[in-house]
Amino acid sequence: MKMVICGKGGCGKSTILALLARQYAAEGKKILVIDTDESNTGLHRLLGMDAPDDLIDFLGGKKPVTEKIMNSLPDLSSLHFFSHPICVNKLPAGYVTKKGSIKLVSIGKIHSFGEGCACPMGIVAKQFLSGLTDQDDEIVLVDTEAGIEHFGRGIEEGTDLILMIVDPSYESVLLTRKISEMSGIRPDMYYMLNKIDSDTGSRLRCHLLHPEKIIGEMGFLPVITRSGLDGEVLDDYPPEIFQVSRRLSAMDITS
Ligand SMILES: Nc1ncnc2c1ncn2[C@@H]1O[C@H](COP(=O)(O)OP(=O)(O)OP(=O)(O)O)[C@@H](O)[C@H]1O
Ligand SMILES: [Mg+2]
Repeated sequence: MKMVICGKGGCGKSTILALLARQYAAEGKKILVIDTDESNTGLHRLLGMDAPDDLIDFLGGKKPVTEKIMNSLPDLSSLHFFSHPICVNKLPAGYVTKKGSIKLVSIGKIHSFGEGCACPMGIVAKQFLSGLTDQDDEIVLVDTEAGIEHFGRGIEEGTDLILMIVDPSYESVLLTRKISEMSGIRPDMYYMLNKIDSDTGSRLRCHLLHPEKIIGEMGFLPVITRSGLDGEVLDDYPPEIFQVSRRLSAMDITS
């Protein structure tokens, strides 16, 4: 099962991914987290794990990867960075960090100012995800950068479920509409409302063209903001996360 988590900047993608990962781990499931967000570096902290090395360095580094892509344009169909099927357990130590039943792989980060375009990371992420084997019954959770650029790069292709985090902002509402326009409302796309209260929650539900796609809701919880600010792992599991993981299990997606 591969699940991509997307949404507007700051809506809570990484937070909800980390909570879901730890919830699944507590249920005895195995989780592989793939960090495809090249800008933010904090996902490992939310998971309480060490940061893995950039997978793009395993392929020689961003510059050689970019050169290979440029030399193959416009047809990238014969460019393969990995031999399939990809087995995460066979990656050299350092490119995967582990904590309990959670593994973390990071495609690559922009480490310094002016490091250039993120396209190579998008292409590597897409190839890595599509080549991953479904071994060990792992649940694969994919964190993405803000917005919808990764949809243009096709990161979500070959995944089983898209969980879109929707916060109570007009930008989030517009993003849900834009994605529906781009790819139609995929049957495997669901919304999770985040940072709502009773008023903003009911307004947000009215704004959504497909409220039937809401699979879970989480309120604005100061404890989450506080641990985010302090760079700490969230120790309190909001009960709303149980609800989402239970609903996903009921749909037979993660069981
Ligand atoms: N339910 C919530 N209640 C309170 N604060 C929250 C909640 N969910 C997330 N936050 C806070 O919102 C901020 C953004 O969260 P997070 O980094 O998870 O968003 P993101 O969508 O991954 O952002 P980015 O687009 O930058 O990757 C963080 O400070 C986090 O602690
Ligand atoms: Mg994030």
